Amino acid sequence: MSEIKDVDLWESGETKINWVIAHMPILNSIKVEFEVEKPLAGVKIALSVHLEAKTAYLCKVLAAGGAEMYVTGSNVLSTQDDVAAALVHAGLNVFAWHAASPEEYWHHLSCVLETCPNIIVDDGGDLVHLMHTKYIDLIPNVYGGCEETTTGVLRLIEMAHAGTLKFPMVLVNNADCKHLFDNRYGTGQSVWDGINRTTNLIVAGKTVVVAGYGWCGKGVAMRAKGQGASVIVTEVDPIKAMESVMDGFRVMTMDEAAPLGDMFITVTSCCQVVCERHFLAMKEGAICCNAGHFDVEVSMKDLNRIAVSHFEARKDIEGYKLPNGRTVYVLGEGKLVNLACGDGHPAEIMDMSFGIQALCVRYIARNKGKLPDTVLNVPSEIDLDVAYRKLAAWGLKIDELTQEQHEYLG
Ligand code: NAI
Repeated sequence: MSEIKDVDLWESGETKINWVIAHMPILNSIKVEFEVEKPLAGVKIALSVHLEAKTAYLCKVLAAGGAEMYVTGSNVLSTQDDVAAALVHAGLNVFAWHAASPEEYWHHLSCVLETCPNIIVDDGGDLVHLMHTKYIDLIPNVYGGCEETTTGVLRLIEMAHAGTLKFPMVLVNNADCKHLFDNRYGTGQSVWDGINRTTNLIVAGKTVVVAGYGWCGKGVAMRAKGQGASVIVTEVDPIKAMESVMDGFRVMTMDEAAPLGDMFITVTSCCQVVCERHFLAMKEGAICCNAGHFDVEVSMKDLNRIAVSHFEARKDIEGYKLPNGRTVYVLGEGKLVNLACGDGHPAEIMDMSFGIQALCVRYIARNKGKLPDTVLNVPSEIDLDVAYRKLAAWGLKIDELTQEQHEYLG
């Protein structure tokens, strides 16, 4: 049962998956345990995560644990058709294709939910939202789920506060082994990989404006600085703004930064961060992109409204001619630039994030019916388990507290 572009693309997808497997020792070790233990036997999992090679391997690990997998993407531009084909060739059920229309995207999400899943693995909150609106009658089958990213976490916390969340959701994003590494170092590297390979332009000497100095923004700004850019940070949180000043960046409002920037990168979870008045104030040739979860941070709605015309300037780069005669460029249609214009985070980073995901899925299966219908933190044992597996993969040992030290600290 699948809906994908072309199953004949599977060999190229399998090559991509094999490459990441060689760099994901945490998932490899969990797969070996799952194959013996089969903790997910008889469990149906609906998964909506950026559908590329690392996610495909997570799906295979969960399948190795006995799960029946129903897989879709979480962003139409990050789905890779050859990777989807490789999963179908391996016997998993996939509903997704690259550049699906919004209607097709929601249809694919519906397909995975209509299989009556027991566990939901979500990235951004669309699957959980759909379950709570269109498929309420299927909620009694759900033991719980996991959420991968900050935006999805914010949506879930709001539901939990309103008392509308109907099953337990583990906030994978909030685990230390997730956001401290994935959001900061993963986004820091992969956003620049997406920008560099798409634009083929030099970063050194440019003025780069980073909107948002959270976990992701810190990584993006740090790597911009490392490539020789002059970095400006915009924020709405005074503490984060102070932190970025002490990290060596200039802080100002987006109104002040708009005429100065050569490149703009939004990573806030917010909407309309770069909007009409900013586009009109930008220099000729300014480049905008977004790394936040939804494509509302760089306002494509404003840009499409005010632009006199637009044209494809290069693959994944659209030029917009403005009424003031200047042209600004947008990468990847304003969708997450590292996934729409690249392959996402490095495999070693997703090894940690997906290690947490796999162990949390097992935790939910083991605790079926026992967890409260609210948002839950990742148990610290799981966070530490992944940390120790990562250190072991690096061949590193750390000291252990002696009894005397325990007592002293206590
Ligand atoms: P965070 O909550 O740590 O940081 C967001 C920052 O943006 C905060 O400091 C907040 O004060 C600031 N902010 C909010 N509205 C703003 C505005 N209008 N102007 C300027 N700053 C503003 O969140 P995190 O973890 O950094 O995630 C940010 C976004 O990136 C989320 O949408 C998340 O889902 C997404 N994300 C994307 C990844 C990728 O691969 N591209 C990876 C992980 C997360």
